Amino acid sequence: MIVFLNDKFVPLEKAKVSVFDRGFLFADGVYEFIRTYNNKLFEFEAHINRLKYSLNELKINFNDFDKIKDIILKLAVINNFTEKEFEVYIQITRGYQFPRKHNFNEDINPTVFIFLNESENLRDKLNKGVKVILEEDKRWNRCDIKSISLIPAVLAKTKALKSSAFESIFTKDNKILEGSHTNFFGVYKNEVYTAPLSNLILSGITRKVVIKLCRANNIKVNEEYIKLDELNFFEEFFITGTKTEITPVVQINDKLVNNGMPGKLTSIIQKYFYDYINSQRNSLT
Ligand code: PDD
Repeated sequence: MIVFLNDKFVPLEKAKVSVFDRGFLFADGVYEFIRTYNNKLFEFEAHINRLKYSLNELKINFNDFDKIKDIILKLAVINNFTEKEFEVYIQITRGYQFPRKHNFNEDINPTVFIFLNESENLRDKLNKGVKVILEEDKRWNRCDIKSISLIPAVLAKTKALKSSAFESIFTKDNKILEGSHTNFFGVYKNEVYTAPLSNLILSGITRKVVIKLCRANNIKVNEEYIKLDELNFFEEFFITGTKTEITPVVQINDKLVNNGMPGKLTSIIQKYFYDYINSQRNSLT
């Protein structure tokens, strides 16, 4: 496997960074995760815009956004992925700084790491619907930044899997926010609800597409918090994410949703989503 690290295409075994990289010492960095559909990078510009936003908020010096697509295409060619569906992981840390100190030097070069993975088809597994558990949000107050500092998400996801669930959904002060790696939606009286954009959630690209598709198809979307004490009124739930796509939620903690079956509106929105994906141009651009 060939990966991209700091201006070079190198075999994975040769991809090494310093232990004084601020990503290693302070989790001082950001990332993006993109996938292809029909050999096209899905919502590429939206992902790059979110990357720019994360970097800008953290004042990390990186401006070579124009080169990213070429790097991905070259990685796809070298790794024989051009005919396959793949996922892209992009991580940019603030870079190497010695000696260790909290405050960062303004002039250090960021560390850029990009690798591709073959996409796994999770639909058969996830489309039956998943269990989620609710978890108090212990993350920092800037969840709008896609930071590599993911400890609360790591712990919450691990706890979910140990509880035979797929995902943990973070709650705060009676508000339902989002999952450890997904956005969260509910359906009440044929209208869709999801947390509004703020510092408390990541602005998910799949979330954005889902909202757009709902509105284009006259399904009302309310960007309003689903409250913990109103959860029982909701008829359907689903989670969204690049890897998870639109996954029905059929159980929350010990309580079945919709008798443990994917919701009707959820399935309709899923269909709009698949149609949208299939309408994407068929080229690796
Ligand atoms: N996670 N919320 C959080 C906290 C996330 O980490 C993610 C994505 C999402 C969904 O965003 P999108 O639709 O843009 O994938 C929501 C990625 C996939 C990850 O951590 O690997």
